[in-house]
Amino acid sequence: MKTVDDVLLNRRSVRRYERRPIEPEKLEFIYKAIRNTATSYNGQQFSVVAVTDPEIKLKLYDIMGQKQVKTSAVFFVFCVDFHQLEVAAKAKGLEFPDFQNTLNGYTVGVIDAALAMQNAVVAAEALGLGCCCIGYARTADPAATSRILGLPDKVAIVCGLAVGYPNEFPDMKPKRPMPVVVHENWYPDDKTLAGELTAYDELVTAYNRERTGDKTDNDWTGHILDYHRLEKAKDLGPYLAGQEIEIGGNR
Ligand SMILES: Cc1cc2nc3c(=O)[nH]c(=O)nc-3n(C[C@H](O)[C@H](O)[C@H](O)COP(=O)(O)O)c2cc1C
Repeated sequence: MKTVDDVLLNRRSVRRYERRPIEPEKLEFIYKAIRNTATSYNGQQFSVVAVTDPEIKLKLYDIMGQKQVKTSAVFFVFCVDFHQLEVAAKAKGLEFPDFQNTLNGYTVGVIDAALAMQNAVVAAEALGLGCCCIGYARTADPAATSRILGLPDKVAIVCGLAVGYPNEFPDMKPKRPMPVVVHENWYPDDKTLAGELTAYDELVTAYNRERTGDKTDNDWTGHILDYHRLEKAKDLGPYLAGQEIEIGGNR
């Protein structure tokens, strides 16, 4: 097992994998880490589909267009899950409050699913495996993915995670300076933020230039604004409504 330092401070996304399966006992360790996720009220408002079948992975790759989906040993799909509580409530004849239809309820499920995904990343990294989260699982036709995986109502995709033995060792990406990430006791003023983030943009530009041989002067601000413009156009509402999660009323 890797040390905690190594797992947390040397982690980087790995997008190329060796074509070999993960041993059952290692998968079991990842599953246990997922199961033991801290969740709101211990409600465990999440569940996970672990896809190992190459044919299913290929179908998901056709939807998401990310090669990691088909080349990974396991492709996990982390979901918000209010279905199981409804099944349990029905079995006991209890009223179901439709918490998933509130912004708070949906957020609770997303937090639980995201923490479960991070537990899987930490467990996999500790075992020497490489991981890459795949947001396209949620944004590239999630209804089609849900049909392929047989997701019932009140279960909705939050994120995918590709895991496998690493076949590349990418550089660590520069991250924002500590004073704009962790604010000790008080949020910094805009002048401080602007200074720190401008310096960070210069660092990112230098990093990208070095990696691409001067072919780009991409910085963080411009790059992320472009992403947000694209992502803003993606409406999750119809997909969630199709899964019987209709956020409204008190949002
Ligand atoms: C929620 C989430 C979704 C992501 N989706 C994708 C994706 O669809 N494809 C991809 O190649 N990387 C994806 N990533 C990986 C990010 O691009 C990566 O974490 C980021 O560039 C920072 O690099 P690092 O992980 O090496 O530190 C995603 C990461 C997160 C946390």
